[in-house]
Amino acid sequence: MTEQIEKNFQAQKILLVDDDPSLLKLLALRFRSLGFEVNTAESAELAVALIPSYHPHLVITDLRMGEMDGMALFNHIKETYPTIPVIILTAHGTIKEAVAATSEGAFGFLTKPYDPKELVELASKALSINICHPLDQATKKELSWREKIITRSVLMENLLREVEHVANSKISVYIHGESGTGKELIAQAIHNISSRRDKEFVTVNCSAIPEDLLESELFGHCKGAFSGASANRKGLFEEADGGSLFLDEIGDMSAAFQVKLLRALQEGEIRPVGSNKTIKVDVRVISASHRDLQKLAAEEVFRTDLYYRLNVVTLSLPRLADRLEDIPLLANHFIANNHSNPHGIAKGLSTEAMELLVSYEWPGNVRQLKNVIEHICTFATTPLIPVSLVENALQEKQGSASLSFNDAKKNFERDYLVKLLQLTNGKVTEAAKLAKRNRTEFYRLLDRHELKAAQFKIKKEA
Ligand SMILES: Nc1ncnc2c1ncn2[C@@H]1O[C@H](COP(=O)(O)OP(=O)(O)OP(=O)(O)O)[C@@H](O)[C@H]1O
Ligand SMILES: [Mg+2]
Repeated sequence: MTEQIEKNFQAQKILLVDDDPSLLKLLALRFRSLGFEVNTAESAELAVALIPSYHPHLVITDLRMGEMDGMALFNHIKETYPTIPVIILTAHGTIKEAVAATSEGAFGFLTKPYDPKELVELASKALSINICHPLDQATKKELSWREKIITRSVLMENLLREVEHVANSKISVYIHGESGTGKELIAQAIHNISSRRDKEFVTVNCSAIPEDLLESELFGHCKGAFSGASANRKGLFEEADGGSLFLDEIGDMSAAFQVKLLRALQEGEIRPVGSNKTIKVDVRVISASHRDLQKLAAEEVFRTDLYYRLNVVTLSLPRLADRLEDIPLLANHFIANNHSNPHGIAKGLSTEAMELLVSYEWPGNVRQLKNVIEHICTFATTPLIPVSLVENALQEKQGSASLSFNDAKKNFERDYLVKLLQLTNGKVTEAAKLAKRNRTEFYRLLDRHELKAAQFKIKKEA
């Protein structure tokens, strides 16, 4: 372990903060002996002053200190330098605070007296997940299953640990998360790390395929099964045989098809459209939705038996706004790997520009950040992107252009429904008539967007 740390992280800069000078000295000696560069601060205030010029890759701080404590220092770093990981050292009485800090994004904590070996291991881990630091070949290979997932968020690291736990069983995994949070990336990562990785990973977007085609798409069809079926065709279940099938936007699947899917999952076999023979398939199903499937099940829009079959383990992806520390990392990654930056003019973001990105809400999560960066890179004329370009890209008029087609369509649909309900004072029959939809269909649309007609009824004043 020590050898590997030396190899990977030489010249990594660590800032140690503690009001106990003898402890600082001891720790500094230990880290220096392992090849790290170390600076020390005897107060949080001094650390705050040192960070801008020292540019540490990691801060290790005591919790209880003079005026400004370790928690305040952590909050300052989180806001001002979200890419610097922070490890907190805590005495026995303050564990609760340290745990709270970890849930807010601190990399980790150790209680005093801590095992020095444990501290070095935690520090090396904190440094290793920052993509700025080159990893050796062996570590790279070991982590290749998650190479596309750029993160240094503790919430995401916890999630990836869960992915590792569930990957090798055939357990059905349901991934929940807002649009653009990386559900598909996680599904792919589950497949990559599982023993099925050499077989196919097949993706189906259930909301994009018209209902009458979904059955033949998933289960295949025989020649002549319907007009246009000119040859036998394998379904996606069969293509994924031995591998994984990712059913995206499962919450949009019709009630009729839910029954067919349930049967296929229960029996482990499928029947192509127009065939009277069933085919055994060995498929690991991973599903996802941006909608609250549990709520849909409770409202009987989604079958509970199918819900429990798909959802043996739920993985919940945090919103980007709940992992601010990922924003600079992702932004830099998207700049470096951007195709609309053909001349490679844009190299990075000015501090102000980065601050604006970190303070933005990101309703479209990582996908929106990626689109915004691509947009910015197209217009960049200088290596350091100025804040004005980010401001432009985030403006309302650009908003819809930075969304995926599906998200823009979703937003349009919701706005349209809201306008109809406002116009008709929440009268569903009238609103449905205007939209040229029957009431049942209209209720389904409202439900999909979690809108309640009653909210639009004008209340008579008492
Ligand atoms: N942690 C990440 N690191 C790098 N890229 C990411 C990360 N998370 C998401 N992305 C990128 O953002 C985009 C959206 O990710 P993905 O399609 O996995 O999200 P999703 O949750 O399935 O979105 P949707 O609900 O819109 O289908 C993709 O281009 C993906 O590569
Ligand atoms: Mg998706």
